Amino acid sequence: YTCDLIRNFSIIAHIDHGKSTLADRLLELTGTIQKKQVGRNEQVLDKLKVERERGITVKAQTASMIHKFSGKEYLLNLIDTPGHVDFSWEVSRSLAACQGALLLVDASQGVQAQSISVFHIAQERGLKIIPVLNKIDLPAAQPERIAAQMQSTFGIDPTEIIPISAKTGQGVEAILEAIIQRIPPPSGLENAPLKAFLFDSFYDRYRGVISLVNVQAGTIRKGDKILSCHTRKRYEVQDVGVMYPEEVPVDCLRPGQVGYVSCNMKESSEAHIGDTLFRIGHPVEPMPGFKPAKAMVYAGVFPVDSNDFPKLEESIKRLTLTDRSVTMQRESSSALGQGCRLGFLGTLHMDVFRQRLEDEYDANVIITAPTVPYKVIYKDKEVYISNPTEFPDVTDTTSKVKEIHEPVVRASIIVPEEGFGDMMDLCYSHRAEGLEHRYLDAGSGSTSSRIILTCIIPLSEIVTDFFDQLKSRSSGFASFDYEDAGYKKSDLAKMTFLLNAKPVDALALIVHRSAQDTIGRAWVKKLHKVIPRQLFEVPIQAAIGRKIIARETLSALRADVTAGLYGGHYERKMKHLENQKESKKRMKRMGSVDLPQEAFFDILRK
Ligand code: GTP
Repeated sequence: YTCDLIRNFSIIAHIDHGKSTLADRLLELTGTIQKKQVGRNEQVLDKLKVERERGITVKAQTASMIHKFSGKEYLLNLIDTPGHVDFSWEVSRSLAACQGALLLVDASQGVQAQSISVFHIAQERGLKIIPVLNKIDLPAAQPERIAAQMQSTFGIDPTEIIPISAKTGQGVEAILEAIIQRIPPPSGLENAPLKAFLFDSFYDRYRGVISLVNVQAGTIRKGDKILSCHTRKRYEVQDVGVMYPEEVPVDCLRPGQVGYVSCNMKESSEAHIGDTLFRIGHPVEPMPGFKPAKAMVYAGVFPVDSNDFPKLEESIKRLTLTDRSVTMQRESSSALGQGCRLGFLGTLHMDVFRQRLEDEYDANVIITAPTVPYKVIYKDKEVYISNPTEFPDVTDTTSKVKEIHEPVVRASIIVPEEGFGDMMDLCYSHRAEGLEHRYLDAGSGSTSSRIILTCIIPLSEIVTDFFDQLKSRSSGFASFDYEDAGYKKSDLAKMTFLLNAKPVDALALIVHRSAQDTIGRAWVKKLHKVIPRQLFEVPIQAAIGRKIIARETLSALRADVTAGLYGGHYERKMKHLENQKESKKRMKRMGSVDLPQEAFFDILRK
């Protein structure tokens, strides 16, 4: 296929607006996959089990299809993008390989927070956008109203909008035509030196890392000796092919084409997303580099049974081969033993990873409370700290800390008018600043207007329960998205928890000073509930620096040491009680609180 017969496109949409369903229809219509029996709802592109269970796309998948149009055969490359706030980085990298995008909007729900963010990413990349209204088969669909919304929000000409039902297939044919007619073909020179843009990779147990590339110039074939601009490593190409929708080997990949390259890469870190591959001896100007995936949420992961650490580490390593956006480091805790500290793109990413760990490797794990990377500014240096145990004691006047900065994000929330007050409360209770709002459209009859609310909010405030609260307070009607907004000075401190006067490192938290009392009290209450009573009294305390800010006392469990003694042996009874008192003292002195792992499990799982 020459360039003029190739189209590279993506489907971008808010979560649940029907991206995977539409992708399936397109693959069926072009005969790339067999039509499934009615009633089966298993999407081809959503491969991972957790994706199917949660119904969200986690990992981008790419597929090619062939479509005949006015006597010519076209090669259409669909580059699938994941649909969640945590993965917006993956969206932007997949879009770099496309010239156009289908912007899919649910005709019953209308424009949502992520419709807007993905639209902006696509627009910034200069992609041709084809607006599509999906789910027109639903009784609740309001195609005219939503079309007007798309016009006012995106400046889209309503006559360009293609109404479809990805479920029934109605209107989907028109999309194939629009892709061919409206999206420009990729440009690329056949007789130029090879320049291949690496936009994704996956791991294959037998062949190692497989890269997905978009050939920008030249051709790539088996046996080629290539070099990576980024790592300067050399490889020999073992195999090239297209995703149709599974890997199908081909002779060579030409300019404009999208396909896979297998070249004996052992580690997924070698396949640097945004890298440019070229032929040895024919260097090219690399494509403008990409921001590497930035871990924004960190948590410690420990095995429930500490003997399982080698197995856990092995499992994590294997999973990071398939999900390269997870960063990993070893960590040890006096309470939880040996573990790993992992960095994720967001909390959903973290949940997905844990579930995969449990599903695929049958490993029971404890995950500590999520934290974000804080910037600690000293007189002469800046340090990023994402592990609370390493956080300095800011109440210590001898510490050289000048300022603490925390990551903040620009959040956008779209909510029906009646839920607006609740959303404002939610934002303010999470330290939001600079709240602004505007109407997205005017209400009509039975439907209310929708408002878009934007604010700056600390990332640490949204990594815990923000999303759940947003959904429950708005009965699921609010949608939410955020983007990085840099760092901001903040009044933060490390909160430690002491059991029997001994700090438990795995429980340390970074808190905003304004919320320290509330948080301290809530946590000691939680601990009080889950820690089993001991033979001695155990104070449970929350502290900031040396100052105790909350306390609960776990009363002693009185073992009845006299139970086996009958009759009136008063002296013997007394002696036993004396002994018991002595040993109680000793245990307390040693401070050995028996803390079962399940207790951690309970508190850290919320
Ligand atoms: P993510 O993968 O999580 O981003 O979601 P998605 O955008 O891929 O959505 P998906 O295709 O999984 O569809 C979400 C839900 O909407 C599923 O239950 C689909 O069956 C349903 N759905 C998709 N298209 C249509 C449609 O045209 N009409 C109706 N009635 N339902 C649809």
